[in-house]
Amino acid sequence: MQLTRFVNGFKRLETPFYFYDLDILDQTLRLYTKFLRKYGYQAHFAMKANANPRILEMIHRSGLGADCVSGNEVQLALDMGFDPDTIVYAGVGKSDREIRTALQGGIFCFNCESIPEIRIINDLASQMGKTARISLRLNPNIDAHTNKHITTGRSRDKFGISEWMLDEVLGIIAASRNIKLIGLHFHIGSQVEDMQVFEKLCKKVNSYQKWFEQHDIHLEHINLGGGIAVDYENPIENPFSPFETYFETINSNLEVRKGQKVHFEPGRALIAQSGYLISRVLYVKIGRGKKFAILDAGMNDLIRPALYGANHAIFNITSASQKKEVYDVVGPVCESADRFGLAVKLPETGRGDLIAICSTGAYGQVMGMRYNQRELAQAYYSPDL
Ligand code: LLP
Repeated sequence: MQLTRFVNGFKRLETPFYFYDLDILDQTLRLYTKFLRKYGYQAHFAMKANANPRILEMIHRSGLGADCVSGNEVQLALDMGFDPDTIVYAGVGKSDREIRTALQGGIFCFNCESIPEIRIINDLASQMGKTARISLRLNPNIDAHTNKHITTGRSRDKFGISEWMLDEVLGIIAASRNIKLIGLHFHIGSQVEDMQVFEKLCKKVNSYQKWFEQHDIHLEHINLGGGIAVDYENPIENPFSPFETYFETINSNLEVRKGQKVHFEPGRALIAQSGYLISRVLYVKIGRGKKFAILDAGMNDLIRPALYGANHAIFNITSASQKKEVYDVVGPVCESADRFGLAVKLPETGRGDLIAICSTGAYGQVMGMRYNQRELAQAYYSPDL
């Protein structure tokens, strides 16, 4: 596998750590932005997927803006040099302080998720003598057929404004002097594998557009959010997401008005496959009818398996054994959920072996925490090793 050429470099390092293959990131960004150019679309990287400055710097250089979900993300994007005009800000619970940060920074657009939020943004903008550009994040009631923890576009989910509220919303916007409605925003879920879901979303957007036009409102911007899936099962064979099919699906189903701009907020699909969590085997422990490979990485370093039951491909990158064995690959944290894979087939594994957990560039390092007072994992990068 591609990682073997880095193994000698890894051996010198203290584990666990995140390793980013910046060549893969570069290739992913080139591929993704090729389609943006082809269709004249714009994109804002969902910083929640990875806020590592070195990664953000590359993404910024590739011409993408930033999609933020907190005041601190907005501030980080500004500090990293993202043009305020490329920063969008979503979230169901924006605090007054966060809204002020974004207004002060002069960001491109607030993606508003409720009526009370629109009112508060208007009040704060008025106090600061500013006008806030807003898009309405609509909840189109579409099931993204993905993990229940990361589906966001059904009417029972907390996200977005429901259709039946739109008349009231328009009334409020008309009466708000410090708000300018510039578009619609959607994000129906993450790790969406079924392209029909995006097709459905486009059709919904088309009908919303007609509704707004009937109300004499012309929308300059349509933002379709993120959600493109990555291949967690075969990350080495499939490092790139199906961007071509995705953009073709959007292009052939979305009715774009003259002069209208279409935006996206990719997170996972840009960075997941560039990242690996590298750890050492501390012990191999015999259990009842099974063997545990106990790693020095835990759920505090990578919480996706514990939180969502997510599966990541796992490789032993140092064992030379031809013999295959089956292991439950677990961490050291005092929780039964602290496991990365059950019944994983690996070459015979022993203390000191290096284990790579793949596709961890997105929602990996950024979700790390210090539970059990464990250290945060460091990051290393491919051209440096
Ligand atoms: N835009 C909005 C408004 C979002 O809420 C999200 C992700 C994205 C864009 C980016 O979606 P992506 O392209 O990455 O699918 N921690 C979870 C994922 C949470 C996603 C939350 N929203 C995980 O590890 O799977």
